[in-house]
Amino acid sequence: MYLPDKKSLAAHPVPEWFHDAKLGIFIHWGLYSIPAFAVTEYGDITRTMQRGFEFHFTNNPYAEWYLNSLRITGSPTQAFHHAQYGDCPYMDFAQDFNTSLVHWQPQVWASLFRRAGARYAVLTTKHHDGFLLYPSEHPNPIQPDYHAVRDIPGELKDALSQQGMRFGTYYSGALDWTFTQEAITDVVGLLVNGPASTAYGAYVDAHFRELVRRYQPDVLWNDIGYPPMGHPLAVIADYYNQNPQGVVNDRWSVSGKQMRGLVQWKPVRRLINRMAMKMILQGKSAAGSSHSDFRTPEYQQMAEATPDKWEACQGLGYSFGYNRMDTADTYLSSEALIHLLVEVVSKNGNLLINVGPDGQGQIPPVQQERLLALGAWLEINGEAIYGTRPWLKAEATDPQGIPLRFTRKGDALYAIPLERMPRELVLPGMCLAGPVTAVRLADGAPLQAENTPTGLRLSAAAACDATAPAIRLEPARAVQLTDARGAVP
Ligand code: GLC
Repeated sequence: MYLPDKKSLAAHPVPEWFHDAKLGIFIHWGLYSIPAFAVTEYGDITRTMQRGFEFHFTNNPYAEWYLNSLRITGSPTQAFHHAQYGDCPYMDFAQDFNTSLVHWQPQVWASLFRRAGARYAVLTTKHHDGFLLYPSEHPNPIQPDYHAVRDIPGELKDALSQQGMRFGTYYSGALDWTFTQEAITDVVGLLVNGPASTAYGAYVDAHFRELVRRYQPDVLWNDIGYPPMGHPLAVIADYYNQNPQGVVNDRWSVSGKQMRGLVQWKPVRRLINRMAMKMILQGKSAAGSSHSDFRTPEYQQMAEATPDKWEACQGLGYSFGYNRMDTADTYLSSEALIHLLVEVVSKNGNLLINVGPDGQGQIPPVQQERLLALGAWLEINGEAIYGTRPWLKAEATDPQGIPLRFTRKGDALYAIPLERMPRELVLPGMCLAGPVTAVRLADGAPLQAENTPTGLRLSAAAACDATAPAIRLEPARAVQLTDARGAVP
């Protein structure tokens, strides 16, 4: 029985299914998928942030932030909106969304995700714009009929379970722009602009309880933080008590009332913004301070294998929500996507890769193509990914400059070159302490393994042109790390 305190919740073990799954699909779908516009020319969020918060929020690469960008005077989104839609309020997209909803086919999504090799999917049930993707018992008190007319989470969950995948819900806890009018233009705004009323706290609590009761999600993914008058620990404890196999992410901290008072003071606000920027530039924004089963670096990865579980999330392009400005260049290439999954898994992460369906519920062909390429790679190399755990070392570089990543499972060690494989590869700082069988999964080619002064050499009869061809070495214990001088232990 879990209790609503951090100590009790900390006893919740990360379930094996989550460790094993490795690949999930994030789905950002909502009203913002209709205008589908964000600035791409300055790169992804890691680049726009480097130009300062004001620049970032004015030129936000996230299309799901459309309403916030629209509220910033002089922003490119404002110009786009006026040219395209005149004075039409954002909230009016709800009618168009619902009209198009007749075309949505959850089975088509589920079958794509399965072919991509995903083991779970996480859907935005409410993003920052406040639109609910299901008819809730707790409708938005400000905007009438501000919800999808179909039960999108329910229908998607069914389609996913028919294909053997698990279902998770994303919910924007701290922010709901139907309750607030002021645009967010800095990090402090991100933390304190959310509605702080008792009514909003109760609204969020009620939605979480409703999501848990109706959809029994295996992932409860809250965003930004929790409203000051809500009860996140009680929500999480009840969730675990109903589904001990469930997991929660790390964005549940409550931005307290004190902080709200303090930042009214301009110098304090400036100081907090400066500190936040420093952390972001040092790549520390991934840290979470609330109770969590896993951390959630966004458009970033952990530099090393961590003892704690994490899940990297990012879009296939620079945005989570569908962005009409994306081009083949702004999307990850299929190869980069495969490399990203390998990188993340070698360091104890899962990859939650995002799709942004358009306003009609279609997943754009380029996104489908990338996912299917990943699925085709996993079809052959999946045993080096699913169910693995980090090895003694996550990465090394072959003397020819080929980056290598490692994973292990049972008695097998997997070495995965992040490039085409020439006839020979050397694993530096490693040696054989006994006989080993080495096989390249892409073509089943046996490899010869031998100790050399530069490391463990793997050689095949021929090079292999496949992307990231994983190599299985068995038994794993026959491969050992040498010390800094290259001596065999
Ligand atoms: C962020 C963004 C958001 C996106 C999310 C995904 O916090 O505000 O648009 O949904 O993270 O990780």
